[in-house]
Amino acid sequence: MDKIWVAFALMATVQGAKLVSGDFGKTREGAPVRIYTLTNKHGVEATITNYGGRVVSLKVPDKKGALGDVVLGFDSIDGYLNENPYFGALIGRYANRIGHAQFTLDGVLYKVPKNDGDNSLHGGTRGFDKVVWTAREMKDGGLELSYLSKDGEEGYPGNCKVTVIYHLTDLNELKIEYAATTDKDTVVNLTNHSYFNLKGGGDILGHILTLNADRFTPVDGGLIPTGELKPVTGTPFDFRKATGVGRRIEQNDEQLKLGKGYDHNWVLNKKGAELSLAARVEEPESGRVMEVWTTQPGIQFYTGNFLDGTIQGKGGRVYARRSALCLETQHFPDSPNKPKFPSTVLKPGMAFKSTTIYKFVRSPL
Ligand code: GLA
Repeated sequence: MDKIWVAFALMATVQGAKLVSGDFGKTREGAPVRIYTLTNKHGVEATITNYGGRVVSLKVPDKKGALGDVVLGFDSIDGYLNENPYFGALIGRYANRIGHAQFTLDGVLYKVPKNDGDNSLHGGTRGFDKVVWTAREMKDGGLELSYLSKDGEEGYPGNCKVTVIYHLTDLNELKIEYAATTDKDTVVNLTNHSYFNLKGGGDILGHILTLNADRFTPVDGGLIPTGELKPVTGTPFDFRKATGVGRRIEQNDEQLKLGKGYDHNWVLNKKGAELSLAARVEEPESGRVMEVWTTQPGIQFYTGNFLDGTIQGKGGRVYARRSALCLETQHFPDSPNKPKFPSTVLKPGMAFKSTTIYKFVRSPL
């Protein structure tokens, strides 16, 4: 009897989620930064740092069961401290763009940093991707990160308390739960900016994508939505049937030219804020398949058009144009200036909550 219980106890520690942490260096201001390794019972592993809440690596099996890292990033904190396009980061207070870097809320005009031409991108000059989050190791193997964005930080009103919980489940899901509260009316849009390459190298043009969206939000020259929700029918933006990412990317299409490829928000087909399948990506060589589930109304599909081979990442790998794709679940870009888009306003007493799951399945041999 006793022996059986000992065996069960051992299984419980060996199987299921595990979390260990280690030192990841210091920020330029000298703040210590940690790195957390989440492992599930299949040995699938995610490492996440509390600097920007960034997913540093994500090792998932290919069709033969071999684990491979499917996200872009750096081996050490220095890479993240240097200029880089938000690799793996948590993005806020407002993910994606705000046109002319300003918006009006309750009759007050708020100006936020212009860090993308005339517009504000991904929370401004020092967004949530560049701050040290307070980490708490959860008993169930999850990692809780919290951050208090102060009233007026990057121009946004209200003390906004944000909590993000990462779990790596035994279903091979990287599950991200976001929560936020405020003490003054504000706007909030939160996402994760992981760059995926399911092959683990080369470009992503052969990845096969399905997006559960009948419409997308066309943009102007600054990648700000025009306000139209345009049907994808008959355009290179129709991914309702699984289609190679590279198949139409060079087509003579005005929207593709403006984005220098895909860099647009799709309007997800859904009733409300239920958790639903937004996207599926399949990489035929490795046999890796990733599903993206979310409670959010939109998804930014970005094909790494601005990567240009100047950044050297993990293991010395050079990150060339289109060597990764992003599927950023979100509210639509520039919602604070688009009254017809789903609202991103958060008021005191309200609790913002959203969930996104990146689930890794293997295509059969
Ligand atoms: C988002 C944007 C892109 C680009 C990247 C970072 O995906 O939509 O235009 O700014 O972030 O380079």
